[in-house]
Amino acid sequence: MAKKRIRIVEPRFFEEEKKAVISILESHILTRDGWTEQFQREFAKYVGVNYCFTVCSGTVALFIALKALGVDKGETVVVPAMSFMATVDAVLLAGGTPLVIDIDEYYTMDVNQLEDIAKKYNPRVVIPVHLFGQMADMESIMYLSEKYGFFVLEDAAQAHGAEYLGKKAGAWGHVSAFSFYASKNVPMGEGGAILTDSEEVASNIKKWIDFGTHPAFNVRITEFQAAIGSIQLKYLDERNERRRKIAGIYKDRFSEIFEVPKERENSKHVYHLFTMRHPLRDAIIEGLKEKGIDARIYYPYLLNEIRECEAFSLESAYKYREEVFSIPVHPFLSDEDVAYIVDSMLEVVSTLKA
Ligand SMILES: Cc1ncc(COP(=O)(O)O)c(C=O)c1O
Repeated sequence: MAKKRIRIVEPRFFEEEKKAVISILESHILTRDGWTEQFQREFAKYVGVNYCFTVCSGTVALFIALKALGVDKGETVVVPAMSFMATVDAVLLAGGTPLVIDIDEYYTMDVNQLEDIAKKYNPRVVIPVHLFGQMADMESIMYLSEKYGFFVLEDAAQAHGAEYLGKKAGAWGHVSAFSFYASKNVPMGEGGAILTDSEEVASNIKKWIDFGTHPAFNVRITEFQAAIGSIQLKYLDERNERRRKIAGIYKDRFSEIFEVPKERENSKHVYHLFTMRHPLRDAIIEGLKEKGIDARIYYPYLLNEIRECEAFSLESAYKYREEVFSIPVHPFLSDEDVAYIVDSMLEVVSTLKA
């Protein structure tokens, strides 16, 4: 019997995507046509904002969003310690000075430390990251934004469809950035989007996207990407529900042994990744690999360890980064796969303890 192999993420595409891709090929119009317009309209509506601009990646979305908020040399930008490196790289590329702060028990920005930092450093922009599919405490962050006068750029690359207090990720800040990289909850292969409600921010974004008035890069996506994104978006809620259901099973079965993810009250976590903590995680990952289950450490290093930048007391982030690991939670896992993952996890842990 072939050895079982369960991948950590696995985007899937069906007849609808295939038909769309063929119809684009047959139309001879590969870029700047109906699908791109349609995706921008649909995604803005889905998130609940006025403007959506597709770009070639989440990193570029963050960069242009920072530029649209006026980040340049000398401007400080606050980022949480645990994220994908693009969050801090976009700040450096935009010319800003990143300040790295701690995370809370939900793996998102620590709002208490944010208040101390905002008072002292007067940042231009704060980037909360909705890590692993759960939103940061946006209510407090927007309150602090009013109080201390900073802009908020949501890094929603991992949080398509996540909600807090009934409002979607990407609809809270002055601007937000999404990624449609192959592993994301809405995958296009590569791609990103910048969303905002503000006409002024939208007009600043356009300067960086449209050629003519300002030096700009070509950051367009093709019609193929837009079509795939548009079709994937139709199934996002259903697939997020499947992720949540699998996460619920894991939480029931693992909460005695692992530090399972906590859900913030009044929020909807969309489990881009199911990330737990255990002091013996390296041995657990090895044991799972032997059973054909792809488990991974996503962020073994904090952003201040990857790039040179100022960091504050990062007590939780340092503690968590020693213990976090993620297991498959993608919506195409069968019930049998989920049962196999649960049994394998429990078995691997029992052998470690023996
Ligand atoms: C939190 C976060 N921010 C930014 C990005 C950058 O997106 P991309 O890979 O599309 O450039 C990613 C993902 O890859 C991410 O996970």
